[in-house]
Amino acid sequence: GAGFRGVIAVDGPSGSGKSSVCRAVARHLGLRYLDTGAMYRAVTWAALDRGVDLTDRPAVAALCRALVLDIATDPGAPGIAVDGVDVTGAIRQSRISESVSAVATNLDVRADLIARQQAILAEEKGTGVVAEGRDITTVVAPEAEVRLLLTADESARIARRARELHGTDDAAALAATHAQVVTRDARDSTVVDFLVAADGVVEIDTSALTFDQVVDAVLDVVAETRKTR
Ligand code: DC
Repeated sequence: GAGFRGVIAVDGPSGSGKSSVCRAVARHLGLRYLDTGAMYRAVTWAALDRGVDLTDRPAVAALCRALVLDIATDPGAPGIAVDGVDVTGAIRQSRISESVSAVATNLDVRADLIARQQAILAEEKGTGVVAEGRDITTVVAPEAEVRLLLTADESARIARRARELHGTDDAAALAATHAQVVTRDARDSTVVDFLVAADGVVEIDTSALTFDQVVDAVLDVVAETRKTR
């Protein structure tokens, strides 16, 4: 039959393996891919670039509203530009990861980015789109055809992040990553609860699963949803 159409909403904490899984699922099903975390990171990049004090919430919100954000939703080549500057690589720097929570907990920034995300999804849902973040299943796209929460216990998430950042999960890498993961989750979850599945959201605990097993689990949920629709 025809492929999936609509929105696959995926939430979860950092280190749940969400981004690579969502890109693989989008590629497999021929869908678009929206990384909402990249938008919070891009606003953070712009604020640092322009010397806007991240604790000045009205100033950061005003900056955010004035930014032109161009988001490429090709899962094979996701990217983001701010006012014409490609920041796809720059937003992954640790200085951004360390500062982004101050921006993501700014409710006026959230209101602006959520509206932009909803506009993108409205445009892409005819093709079909996988959207990932922290509040996609609950706030951005609560009416999504498929709603998933990818979880993993803390030690699994720290190990994944250590391998991403340091290429290894030896004791030194784990120690260096531990505080970062725990602190960021604690800060982020003050505004959005992404650790507990909302009503109707399917939770997949990825702790003991390989990457391919998680992708297959997501594809199974999508296939089930299509049967019952
Ligand atoms: O997933 P990530 O690490 O790229 O997310 C970057 C930051 O943005 C992180 O602090 C969580 C936050 N975020 C959010 O609050 N809501 C989203 N929908 C996506 C990300």
